[in-house]
Amino acid sequence: MPRRKLDRFPVDLPCDEALRRYYRSYDGATLYHRPAALPDITSRSLFGNARPLVLDLGCGRGEYLLAQAQRHPSYNYVGLDWQRKYLYDAVNHAVRLDLPNVLFLRTDLRQAMCKVPSEAASALLLLFPPPVVKHKHQRKDLLTEAFVAELVRILMPGGTLTFVTDHRLYFAQKRLLFERHLCCTLASEGFEGGQTWFQQVWERHGLPSLRAEYQKVGSERR
Ligand SMILES: C[S@@+](CC[C@H](N)C(=O)[O-])C[C@H]1O[C@@H](n2cnc3c(N)ncnc32)[C@H](O)[C@@H]1O
Repeated sequence: MPRRKLDRFPVDLPCDEALRRYYRSYDGATLYHRPAALPDITSRSLFGNARPLVLDLGCGRGEYLLAQAQRHPSYNYVGLDWQRKYLYDAVNHAVRLDLPNVLFLRTDLRQAMCKVPSEAASALLLLFPPPVVKHKHQRKDLLTEAFVAELVRILMPGGTLTFVTDHRLYFAQKRLLFERHLCCTLASEGFEGGQTWFQQVWERHGLPSLRAEYQKVGSERR
């Protein structure tokens, strides 16, 4: 199934109150010209408390993040994505659940990392990032060497990074990259019952989820 068909679903525009509570825009122009005008991406700035912060990088419709936020009220969860439609769907879902510990940021991940201070995140989720394996498309690849270095920077010592994809070659390539910086704690492949929307789609099409989990050790491994 072509990936572009996956965004064909209806979504209601959230009301103003819902957007004020659950949605922020970190637009490219402000991030570039006046980054100080935007709050840091930390628990303190976004939630007014010091709870551990989990970032879902490319959260899509946010169902995994929302389920986690419901299950773990002592953590804060921020979903970042550049697709407004997905985020509006996630905001509507957050309203139905009335969760105090989630927020969705519309932004380009590659630009937004400058607003995350070093060691601010206790966990990072990379669940089905767009797989780019062809050399000619490399410009579109999110998981570049520089971006992964940023992820390592923002992760606190002992913090975890979860990477899941349906694409075998992409999985192999990016594992090599992660393992230059982080300690692998789990690698698996299997049908996990679709914890995210994309996972449901690909597992229904017979593609197992390829999962790797990492931990940042005290000082960066090289
Ligand atoms: C295949 S979807 C996976 C969504 C979700 N994690 C899931 O598993 O259902 C990839 C997501 O990454 C987002 N994305 C890709 N590149 C991005 C970027 N540079 N900045 C922000 N979001 C990005 C897309 O908009 C899309 O929602």
